[in-house]
Amino acid sequence: MDFKDTTKEQALNTDQADESGSQRRESARLPEPQHSSEGQAGEPITEATVVVENLNMYYGSFKALKDVGMRIRRHRVTALIGPSGCGKSTFIRSLNRMHEIVPGARVDGKVLLEGDDIYAKDVDPVRVRRRVGMVFQKPNPFPTMSIYDNVIAGIKLGGKRKKTELDNIVEKTLRQAALWNEVKDKLKDGGTALSGGQQQRLCIARTLAMEPEVILMDEPASALDPVSTQKIEDAMEELKKRYTVVIVTHNMQQAARISDYTGFFYIENMGDPGQLWEFDETTKMFSSPNRKETEDYVTGRFG
Ligand SMILES: Nc1ncnc2c1ncn2[C@@H]1O[C@H](COP(=O)(O)OP(=O)(O)OP(=O)(O)O)[C@@H](O)[C@H]1O
Ligand SMILES: [Mg+2]
Repeated sequence: MDFKDTTKEQALNTDQADESGSQRRESARLPEPQHSSEGQAGEPITEATVVVENLNMYYGSFKALKDVGMRIRRHRVTALIGPSGCGKSTFIRSLNRMHEIVPGARVDGKVLLEGDDIYAKDVDPVRVRRRVGMVFQKPNPFPTMSIYDNVIAGIKLGGKRKKTELDNIVEKTLRQAALWNEVKDKLKDGGTALSGGQQQRLCIARTLAMEPEVILMDEPASALDPVSTQKIEDAMEELKKRYTVVIVTHNMQQAARISDYTGFFYIENMGDPGQLWEFDETTKMFSSPNRKETEDYVTGRFG
């Protein structure tokens, strides 16, 4: 990749931003995960954008996740829930190799993105992060840049674009992130002059501008007021028409409202690694889950 500005590139790699012209391919037949979870029998496997198989994750000698298998459906919202420390952030970071910025963090197992093994030897993590964008818990707009420049920060690294093309991308992605109406008259203002909720939507627009296939969000609304949270939830319906979304949340109502599928992570005994305890359609997970711990958690009995 021919990046001219390495500082920015590094920031974008860790914050996430993208790649122009991501290749959306018709997925080849994907292998069945060996550890598939409940409720998926008979479903066409081509519906999955991401297939995770036998994933174990470690921080040094500490094993944080054990044997996770999951099929993340294309153009659907998948919510990840579970008690603090059970490995939700660890898992989501494994989906775009973001954990590799943590010294000593490592993965074994497989993560297939449209059939491509993202951990294969010749795969560049920068490319993976272009295809699988990430929005963090704390909004992180680039402090010295305007709203407009924040949105296009990633794509500009990929080469020159016409001003009209950039204008279109800025408007389109700010609309998708439900921020356009609030900022359309002040695009040259600093990105950090926005409220926390607006900054988070700006970061979503920045991620969208890279045209990823998958968007990962780790508690994107946890620091936001109810109105901003609502706006992010509103944006979700729109986002899933174009993208596959994975969102970590501690808010059960939010998971129930916005997601199509839900994965419940759980630690069975103190000191054990986290596991994907149950995975199913959200309606099933919140009405009649198969496991007692899931029911206890979604009804607020613990966690
Ligand atoms: N950078 C790190 N170095 C060492 N251990 C870590 C690191 N990040 C997470 N862990 C450990 O891995 C386990 C899972 O943590 P993780 O952050 O994935 O949990 P989580 O489900 O996202 O929790 P929360 O809901 O509080 O965000 C925990 O035991 C945590 O202490
Ligand atoms: Mg977390």
